[in-house]
Amino acid sequence: MLQSAAKVLSFASATSVSRGIAAGIRHYCKNTPTKLRVSQALSGAELGSNIKVQGWVRSVRAQKANVFLHVNDGSSLQSLQVIASSELNDPLLTFGSAVEVTGILKKSPHQKQPVELDAKQINVVGECNPVDFPFKIKERHGLEYIRQFPHLRCRTNAFSSLLRIRSEATAAIHSYFKDNGFVEINTPIITSNDCEGAGELFQVEPSGPDHADGENFFSVPAYLTVSGQLHLEVVSGAFSKAYTFGPTFRAENSQSRRHLAEFYMVEAEISFTQSLEDLTKDTVDAMLKNSFPVITYREAIDILRRSSERFAFPTDWGCDLKTEHEKYLVKHCGNIPVFVTDYPYDLKPFYARDNQDHPERTAAAVDLLVPGVGELCGGSLREERLNLLSARLEEAGLEDVYSWYLDLRRFGSVPHGGFGLGFERYLQCILGVDNIKDVIPFPRFSHSCLL
Ligand code: 4AD
Repeated sequence: MLQSAAKVLSFASATSVSRGIAAGIRHYCKNTPTKLRVSQALSGAELGSNIKVQGWVRSVRAQKANVFLHVNDGSSLQSLQVIASSELNDPLLTFGSAVEVTGILKKSPHQKQPVELDAKQINVVGECNPVDFPFKIKERHGLEYIRQFPHLRCRTNAFSSLLRIRSEATAAIHSYFKDNGFVEINTPIITSNDCEGAGELFQVEPSGPDHADGENFFSVPAYLTVSGQLHLEVVSGAFSKAYTFGPTFRAENSQSRRHLAEFYMVEAEISFTQSLEDLTKDTVDAMLKNSFPVITYREAIDILRRSSERFAFPTDWGCDLKTEHEKYLVKHCGNIPVFVTDYPYDLKPFYARDNQDHPERTAAAVDLLVPGVGELCGGSLREERLNLLSARLEEAGLEDVYSWYLDLRRFGSVPHGGFGLGFERYLQCILGVDNIKDVIPFPRFSHSCLL
C-alpha cells in the first residue's frame, strides 16, 4: 500500500496543481499506522513508529493512572506489552477479548520485554465474557481440562505451543526427506485396499436419497486409507526413494492414550534395499545421531519370559507384543528406543518379506519401540519375489484384488522396503505428552463427538 502511495506521490508532485494532493497524501502516510504482527513489533525494527497490532488479550492489569495489557496474535509465543492511560480502559477489555491497538512503539524501560506499545487508541473488536470463557486469567489449566474445549483450546499457551511445534516438526520432516533425495507422493485417501489386512476400515459411500440404491459409488467397495504404503511401492518402482505424509484412518478402538481414528503417518519406501539395517540406520538413527539397540522378536520373547513381571497377555512365541510388553522391553533396554526385528511371519501383513528360516518362520519386519509410547514405527522389507507373494495372496484369497500389486513384481521388481511413523506418537515421544489427543488439533476417536 505504501508503495502505491509513493507512486501516486511522485506523479502528483509533477504537477503544480497537484501539490496540495501530494501534501495530503504525505500527511496521510505519516498518520496512518503501520500494521504489524506482534512478532514484527517485538523485533524492534519499527521503534518510534506509529503502529497498529491486532490480537487477543492475554492479560489485563489496571493501575491508577495506566492500564497494562499483553496482546498476542499467534505470530510469536511472546505477547506485546501495551501501556495505555486509564482513560482508554474499557470494561470490555477482558482476558480473551479481541483488540486492535494503535500507538507508538517504544523501547521498554523494563528488562522483561524489549519494546512496549504506548497506546493512543484501543478498539475492542470482539468481546469475551470472562465468566463464561472456560479459561481463566492467571489459572494454570491442565491438558485434560483444556481437552474438553477443542474449539477454544488453541487460545491457551500450552496447546498453541504444541501446535506450533507440530507445525515446525512437519516442516522439518519434509525438509529431511527433500534433502535426502526422496520424492513426495500424495497417496490416495480413498482406496479399495486394506493394506494392513486387519479389517480396521472406514467404508466410503455417498449419502443422501440419490444414492439409496445400495450400489457402490466406485465399482468396488471403497475405504479411507489405513496406509499409503502400497501406492508408495508403486512409485518407488520408478523413483527409488519416495515418501508420503498424510492422514490415515483406522476403525479401531481409539479410547486409549495412544490411538486415534484419524492420525498422520510419515511413510517412506526405498528401492534396492536388502537389509532391515538400511531402514533402521538410514532413518531414525541417523536423525538422532544415536544408536538404538536392535533385538529380534525371539530375543524379545526370551527377555519377557525371563522377567519376574506378571503380564496380562501371553508371552509365547507367536503372540503379538502388547503395550505392556513393549513398555517392559523399552525399560529393559535402558529406557531408550529399541528396534525389534524378525517377527513371526503370521503376525505380519501379506507384504512382509519371508525370511525363509523354517521352522520358526519369521518375516523381515521391524518395529521401533520408544519410551512412554510403545510402537512408534512399523516397517519391513517387502516380499519382492513373485512366486512367494502370489502364493501368500492366493492363500488369503486376495490374488485378484491385488493383481496390480503382483504386476509390480512382474515388471522390474527389486528388493525394497519401507516404514511408517505415527506422527502424533512421535510428537508424544519427543514432547513427553501423555495423551495422543493433546498433540493433534482436532482429535477423532471412537465414541467421540465431532466438531
Ligand atoms: O505399524 P503400522 O500399522 O504400519 C503400517 O501401516 C505400514 N504399512 C507402514 C509402512 O511400512 N509404510 O503403522 C505405522 C505406525 C505405528 O507404528 C504407529 O506409530 C502409528 O502408525 N499408528 C497409529 N497412531 C495413532 N493411532 C492409531 N490408531 C495408530 N495405528 C498406527
